[in-house]
Amino acid sequence: MRHQTRKVMDNIAIFASGSGSNAQNIIEHFNGGTKAAVKIIICNNPNAYVLERAARANVPTAVLPREELICETPGKLMSLLKENSIDYIILAGYLLKIPRSLTEMYRGKIINIHPALLPKFGGKGMYGMNVHKAVVEAGEKMSGITIHLVDEKYDSGKILFQAKCPVFPEDTPEDVAAKIHLLEQEHFPETIERYISMQI
Ligand code: GRF
Repeated sequence: MRHQTRKVMDNIAIFASGSGSNAQNIIEHFNGGTKAAVKIIICNNPNAYVLERAARANVPTAVLPREELICETPGKLMSLLKENSIDYIILAGYLLKIPRSLTEMYRGKIINIHPALLPKFGGKGMYGMNVHKAVVEAGEKMSGITIHLVDEKYDSGKILFQAKCPVFPEDTPEDVAAKIHLLEQEHFPETIERYISMQI
């Protein structure tokens, strides 16, 4: 009987578009350890601060144009994933839609973080401060984070983890963003590690 064995070390690519605080936290959590390593940061914005964070952490980066990243035959992107033997893709503040070819190739292996409690406040246009403004305007008493698998639709894949925080009547969208940031820092790397370690 053949036994399937897990790879000793999984390789991660992080896709990010902006500041990259989550990307940095994930790099610090994994790199230098033995379970997984962030091999590359893929970014669509040449001015994104995540590129500086990656340089400081000695993680290679690739900036690819939007057209390449959203098209159904992203040749350059696929080559980078192959060259780096990428097992998992982590979306950390990544603003572009993932093409179907990639969700099919990495089924169950693309993880996103969303700064609200899905299925509420998800979908097209719901990113960054838009989410926190909508939460405050709706008079929600709770918000939080959702870490989920990525499929063909925005914010609809299987939920792996959620954590909540209170939203008080006097809270501004910026106040909510600060609470969400703390939840992200606390839970995102651990949730990725737990999920990866459960896969064969
Ligand atoms: C985070 O709030 C994340 O949940 C959302 O975009 C933000 C990215 O922040 N998807 P950063 O770039 O990781 O600092």
